Amino acid sequence: LGQLARGGSLAGRRFLVTAGPTVEPLDPVRFLSNHSSGKQGYAIAEALAFRGADVALVSGPTALAAPSGVRRIQVSTAREMLAACEAELPVDVAVCTAAVSDWRAKVQATGKIKKTSEGPPTLELIENPDILAALCRHAQRPKLVVGFAAETDDVLVNAKAKRIRKGCDWLVANDVRQGVFGADRNTVTLIDGTEAVNWPEMDKRSVANLLVDRIEEFLIAH
Ligand code: CTP
Ligand code: CA
Repeated sequence: LGQLARGGSLAGRRFLVTAGPTVEPLDPVRFLSNHSSGKQGYAIAEALAFRGADVALVSGPTALAAPSGVRRIQVSTAREMLAACEAELPVDVAVCTAAVSDWRAKVQATGKIKKTSEGPPTLELIENPDILAALCRHAQRPKLVVGFAAETDDVLVNAKAKRIRKGCDWLVANDVRQGVFGADRNTVTLIDGTEAVNWPEMDKRSVANLLVDRIEEFLIAH
C-alpha cells in the first residue's frame, strides 16, 4: 500500500540507469567480461518506473526481461554503453550499476585466435572509457549521479576514495566477498559527501526502493 501511495511521484522526471556487464570481444568466439546479473540495476529501473519516472535502462547482456514501463537500450561493449548513455542526456539523475569491463583487447582479432606450438597468446589490453566519470564531468551533468562499487577489501576506505575520484554524488558500496553476484539479497553502504550509512541486509528490490526514496527526497530538496 505504501508503494501504491507513491505511484506517480516521479512523473516528468528523467532517469538513466546502467546495468549488467559489458562484453568485450577478443576474437569472434571469445570475450572479456565481468560477473553481473543486472538484478540490482533492473530493480532500480523498475522502482523508478513504478513511480511514474521516464527511465532509460542501458543494459549489457543479462537474462532479465525489461521491467514494465522502462525503455531498455541493449548494448554489449563499454564504448556502446557510453554512447547510449550520452544519447539519453539530459536526465535529472543517473544511476550507474553496470559492471563495466575495465579493459578491452587493444586489437580485436577478426579471425579466431588459434592455438599454436608457441604457447598461449599474450593479450594486449587497453582501458575502456569510464562511463560514470564521463557522466560526472559532462556538460549536461545530471543533478544527481549515483555510482555503485563492488569491493573485496577495505570496503569503506576504497569506496570513499572512489566516490571522490569518480566525481559522483553518492556511491553505493557493497562487499562482494558476501557472494552478491546473481543473488537476490544485498548488503550495502550509502556514501555521500557527509556520511556513510550501513543498510541492513535486504533483498535487491528493497535496496532499490530505499534508494529511490532517497533520490525522491533529494529531488524535492534541490
Ligand atoms: N564504471 C563505469 N565505467 C567504467 C568502470 C566503472 O561507469 N569503465 C562505474 C560502475 O558502473 C560503478 C562505478 O563506476 O558505478 C564503480 O565501478 P568500479 O569497477 O568499482 O570502479 P573502478 O573505477 O573501475 O575501480 P576498480 O579498479 O576497483 O575496478
Ligand atoms: Ca572496475
